[in-house]
Amino acid sequence: MKLQIINGPNLNLLGIREKNIYGDQNFENYFLSLKEEFKDIELDFFQSNIEGELIDKIQEVGFTCDGIILNAAAYTHTSVGISDAVKSVKSPVVEVHISNTYSREEFRHKSFLSPNVKGIIQGFGLDSYKLAIKSFL
Ligand code: DQA
Repeated sequence: MKLQIINGPNLNLLGIREKNIYGDQNFENYFLSLKEEFKDIELDFFQSNIEGELIDKIQEVGFTCDGIILNAAAYTHTSVGISDAVKSVKSPVVEVHISNTYSREEFRHKSFLSPNVKGIIQGFGLDSYKLAIKSFL
């Protein structure tokens, strides 16, 4: 099984940024622990702060991998382009958020992605990614 994790803007600052919301671990270390835990899965990770690069990656992997785990971060709430990309590819996409966006500001309650994804996992900290992987097993 081949799964692709795609992280959007500012998630490169995990462990530094708003620790009270996103925790104190950086994603690279967490990703190593996922690789260790799910040795049988081919797990890849991509992060970009640029909307078009996220769309390019979804298109690149979205016809061959078994699933995409997508945290589009702030673009979740703004991007018709990423939503269209999710709709256009064959691989199922699970939308993930570290925080529970419904317990936060109202502008985070709207997701352009949700209508086009297989499922949504949010509010479990970084373990939202682990639960998303398990959803594909
Ligand atoms: C986030 C939630 C978004 O609202 C926010 O813009 C992020 C991270 C999360 O993982 O909780 O950058 O996607």
